[in-house]
Amino acid sequence: MFSNETPLYPNEEVAQKVTDYAYAHSTPLPQHLIDYHAEGGKHERANYMISNMQAQFQIFMAKVMGAKRAKKLPSHDASLFPIFSPLISYFQRPIILTKFPVLEIGTFIGYSTMGWASAVGPSGHVTGLEFSPEYAQLATEAFAKNNINNIEILVGDAQESIRTLIHHLHQPYDLIFIDADKSSYPAYLSLILSLSPPNSYPINVPSLSYPGSHPRLLRPGGLIIADNLLRRGLVADSSAANPWSMRNGEATWKEGDLNALKEFNDAFVGEKRIESFMLPLWDGVGLGRLRD
Ligand SMILES: C[S@@+](CC[C@H](N)C(=O)[O-])C[C@H]1O[C@@H](n2cnc3c(N)ncnc32)[C@H](O)[C@@H]1O
Repeated sequence: MFSNETPLYPNEEVAQKVTDYAYAHSTPLPQHLIDYHAEGGKHERANYMISNMQAQFQIFMAKVMGAKRAKKLPSHDASLFPIFSPLISYFQRPIILTKFPVLEIGTFIGYSTMGWASAVGPSGHVTGLEFSPEYAQLATEAFAKNNINNIEILVGDAQESIRTLIHHLHQPYDLIFIDADKSSYPAYLSLILSLSPPNSYPINVPSLSYPGSHPRLLRPGGLIIADNLLRRGLVADSSAANPWSMRNGEATWKEGDLNALKEFNDAFVGEKRIESFMLPLWDGVGLGRLRD
C-alpha cells in the first residue's frame, strides 16, 4: 500500500470481521489463557486486561525476541541478601540466570502476566509489579490453580519496587511491559533508562562484573512494550470529531493521563537510545528497542 492509511476498517461490521479473521489466523493461545480471560471478564475491572488477541501478539513478540542464555550459576547463600518483607521470596532465590526474564509493570489479576509466563516457558521468569494486594492475591491464586511456577509478584508502588529490586537482580530483563498508571508512564521510561546505563555490564552478579560496573534493569537490545499509548485515539485527537471524547455530555478521559501519554510518546520517539514503533492497534501499543 502506498498510503499510510489502513483500508481494513471501512466500517464497524467489516472491522469486526477483519479482526476476527486475523485472530483466527494467528497461532492460537493456550487454552488456560483463554479460560482465564473469560473468568477475568466477570471482574468489575475486566477492561483493565489486554485482549486475547493482544496477548497473542505479545507472546509472539516475546518469542521473536528469543532466548539465547540458559545458563545456571552456582547457588549463593540466600542470607547474603537483605530481606524486605514484600520481596522475601524474591531474594530467597538462589542465583540462577533464567532463560528469559520479563518485567511487567501493572499486573492486575495476572492475565497478561500469564501470557508472558507461557511465552518464556518454565525456564524463563516473570516479575509482575502490582499496587493492589487484592489484585495480586487473585493473580497468585490463578497461577497456583494453573500450576504456573515462573512468576513472582511484588506488591507495592512499581517505581519503589523497581528501585529496590535493581539492587538484587542477577541479570537484566529482556523485555519490560508497561501497563500501569498512565500518569507515571514518563517516570517509568526515565527509570528504565537511568537504571540501564549504556555499556553497563549485562550480568548483574557482583562476582562476575568488573569494578565500577552498575547493575542494569533492561539489557542492551531489550524490548519495551507500552500499552494504551493512543487511548482510544484521544491522544492523537480528543476533539469532538473523536466519538470517544464525550459520553453523556462528559469527557471520558483525564487531562493529566492524556498529557502524560503525550509526554511519554514524545520521549519514546525522541530518545536516541531507543528505536521505536507505535502500533495503532487495540488501544495503541508502543514498541521500543534499547540500543545500548
Ligand atoms: C491496566 S491494569 C494491568 C492489566 C494487566 N497488565 C493485564 O493486561 O492483564 C493496570 C494495573 O496497574 C496497577 N497500578 C496502578 N498504579 C500502580 C503503581 N503505581 N504501581 C504498581 N501498580 C499500579 C493497577 O492496580 C492495575 O491493576
